[in-house]
Amino acid sequence: MRSETAPAIRLEDYQPPVYRIEKVHLTVKLDPAETEVVATLSVARQADVQAGTPLVLDGDELSLRELKLNGEVLPDDGYTVSPDKLEIHAPPSKPFDLKITTQINPEANTKLMGLYRSSGTYCTQCEAEGFRRITYFLDRPDVLAIYTTRVEAPKNDCPVLLANGNLMEKGDIDGTDRHYALWHDPHPKPAYLFALVAGNLAQVPDRFTTASDKKVDLNIYVEHGNEGLCSWAMDSLKRSMKWDEDVFGREYDLDVFNIVAVSDFNMGAMENKGLNIFNDKYVLADPETATDQDYANIEAVIAHEYFHNWTGNRITCRDWFQLCLKEGLTVFRDQEFTSDMRSRPVKRITDVRLLKTHQFPEDAGPLAHPVRPRVYHEINNFYTATVYEKGAEVVRMLKTVLGDEGFHKGLDLYFDRHDGEATTIEAFLTCFEDTTGTDLSQFALWYEQAGTPVVSVASAYDADRQTYSLSLSQEIPPVPGQRSSKPAVIPLRFGLLGPDGKDMHATSASGIKISGDVLLMEKSRHEITFSGISSQPVMSLLRAFSAPVRIDQKFATADLQFLAARDNDPFNRWQAVQSLAMQELVRLTGTLRHGKLGAPADGVVSVFGAVLNDQNLDPALKALALTLPSEADIAQEIGKNVDPDAILAARKQLRQAIARQFHGALRAAALEFAPRGDYSPDAETAGKRALSNRAAYYYAVSNTEDAAQFTWDRFSSADNMTDRLAGLMLLVHDHMPGETAALDLYLSRHEKSSLAMDKWFMVQATAPGDGTLATIKSLFSHPLYDATNPNRVRALLQSFATGNATQFARPDGAGFELVAESVLEIDKRNPQVASRLLTSFRSWRALDANRCALAESALMKISSCEDLSRDSRDIIDRTLQ
Ligand code: ARG
Ligand code: ZN
Repeated sequence: MRSETAPAIRLEDYQPPVYRIEKVHLTVKLDPAETEVVATLSVARQADVQAGTPLVLDGDELSLRELKLNGEVLPDDGYTVSPDKLEIHAPPSKPFDLKITTQINPEANTKLMGLYRSSGTYCTQCEAEGFRRITYFLDRPDVLAIYTTRVEAPKNDCPVLLANGNLMEKGDIDGTDRHYALWHDPHPKPAYLFALVAGNLAQVPDRFTTASDKKVDLNIYVEHGNEGLCSWAMDSLKRSMKWDEDVFGREYDLDVFNIVAVSDFNMGAMENKGLNIFNDKYVLADPETATDQDYANIEAVIAHEYFHNWTGNRITCRDWFQLCLKEGLTVFRDQEFTSDMRSRPVKRITDVRLLKTHQFPEDAGPLAHPVRPRVYHEINNFYTATVYEKGAEVVRMLKTVLGDEGFHKGLDLYFDRHDGEATTIEAFLTCFEDTTGTDLSQFALWYEQAGTPVVSVASAYDADRQTYSLSLSQEIPPVPGQRSSKPAVIPLRFGLLGPDGKDMHATSASGIKISGDVLLMEKSRHEITFSGISSQPVMSLLRAFSAPVRIDQKFATADLQFLAARDNDPFNRWQAVQSLAMQELVRLTGTLRHGKLGAPADGVVSVFGAVLNDQNLDPALKALALTLPSEADIAQEIGKNVDPDAILAARKQLRQAIARQFHGALRAAALEFAPRGDYSPDAETAGKRALSNRAAYYYAVSNTEDAAQFTWDRFSSADNMTDRLAGLMLLVHDHMPGETAALDLYLSRHEKSSLAMDKWFMVQATAPGDGTLATIKSLFSHPLYDATNPNRVRALLQSFATGNATQFARPDGAGFELVAESVLEIDKRNPQVASRLLTSFRSWRALDANRCALAESALMKISSCEDLSRDSRDIIDRTLQ
């Protein structure tokens, strides 16, 4: 027997709430196992709703202790209650107060939703539907209330007591060892933004003065001993606050902004009003334990959560179908912030790689859904790359289509018109229509249609007529529940390169709208003619990745080489190198599958040499250009009948060919670009380190005499985590001499830092080779493995399932089995972590027949489980459909 699938929730069934909850007064008396929550709700019937209509409040695993209406205990026949629902049968027709007392057990809350305890600290996570695990409520984003929160706890255990908003009062509770703090948030907000924290935490204070000269107290709260790891996060916060004023005209709106770092957290971070709660990996950093990538992530996530204060909190979502309204827009904003703080092309390439590795496969598999879905069974499963990253791409296209000025005018109107509201994508788009007069009805399809459009390109040059003609067509391959699709608006940034490498003047053409350097596709086919083109050009299309589409264009190798060397759009230069490598890797994979060993083409290998020796290329860009397409990217390109072993082997072949041909230059680059002096996480220095480590990555397989020693030395003499981890990865993943010694050395150096130890688990889980499965099984009983800590589970299992294709998809099925068993085990404790792990099967149908059958049987085993969570049931049903 299998567990039931949760009922479908549909956008078309949306109904406004029948009651408003205008004010919430909460008293939370904290206790590890018996926390009492007294919630007083000021409730009012909506004007158009009939008097006496029942009030139905959401709950989840709650137990009711007392219920009073306007101060009177409610008679038993006046209500019905269960752990997940409280119904008041016939509420008064006038506004009334409902006082609900519930009791909850934070210590036993292993789902990490609602109020829970992590390493002795009480904290909350309420998005999407966690508040109903604290008290009965209208737990939906369109119910906005003003919250006052009184937190009570023993003084010794919990010297720090925090909630949303501004602190009103703090004091001892007479005659006890307890104290209290009273917090008030004047901004109406939905319940998912509620937060409370209590514990024995260290406070790292700072201050920010807003553009209108308002002083804001900033605090980061961390476990004692971690105070020294907060300076980068604090610096990032202050830069975010300033940037949002400068670029979007948004100021902060409370007296205090608090951030708390906790070590057990299901996701990255949460934008609770005035009290952001973070996974500690996005707060804590020093050169000893954090990589350049960690520093960059911290900066981006701190910014992201801060930017939510306007895009998410001041203006929130009417319902969870509109999740991209806040997430897509906020990701776009944090991407822009990083582009301004660092290098715009490097950021763009990094984001596109992420999109192609995470979102494109999602959009091409059984879990595909539109940026704004129309149906869900479990909302927690929709915090996806599609909603976040593709959602950000759609906002970026909006900016491209409307131009900077039109875009910012529309956004200003949005902030103005919808401040304090819970709203929709339609309302958002209308702001841009109203300010620019553009009809966005076709553009809106980007929110409605799942799947990645494929743009097919064919071109011809007519020397006699001096014309260049271009045929463009677009199509979305079928995705679950969407057989046909309508043509989307696709902005294609382009340049026509002349033989000198310069862009030709091509600002007019027949057959399509052009504005500046953007071709605007609006139909399924465009036949375009550029005239006055005096010599055969090379088309550089989709510059800066101006739309989340795939381009199907046959390129001559010489043209790609030309673009790789000459395109003045850095993104497309990078793309040209990638396309060359990809073509070659697909070819080599095919050859290997037929049992042969082809040699990588000289023309491709030499392009890598040219990139390496290009003196004018920024080191960070060079490092990216020298990065081969990932195994997952190659698998995606091949699309069906995928054999991960052949892909791994092909990739290794190309890597070795490059290494052997350019070993001298690689060794020199590894040394030359290694920054000297004190560590600094700034983008320029990090870019040099990236290049140095990329060169070392090749040199390690160069077959030269000192390659092994050289790699070991880099690892063992590293004075920062970026270099140490890069060295460790090479030693372990390439099974080089010193592999075990390096792991031991790393362990003894970092066993006290759980963030550094996550990397140790991750490196071992992602090592190719037959021994990895046994290693993982033995790591399950390592004293530092903790199956209840989401970061640790992700480090060992998620990284295995998503970053070790050959071992996850082993031809004997043992990799699938290991993950399936882990999903079942974790699901009992923490459904969100389990269902996320389960999504690693999403591309199973693309595998070869044997692996496909093995994946299916592992999935069937999960599906037949009787007590699967809603979260995992939803993913398994869709994965198998
Ligand atoms: N709103 C949070 C953020 O984007 C993420 C919350 C994730 N919630 C969830 N149920 N998965 O920063
Ligand atoms: Zn977010």
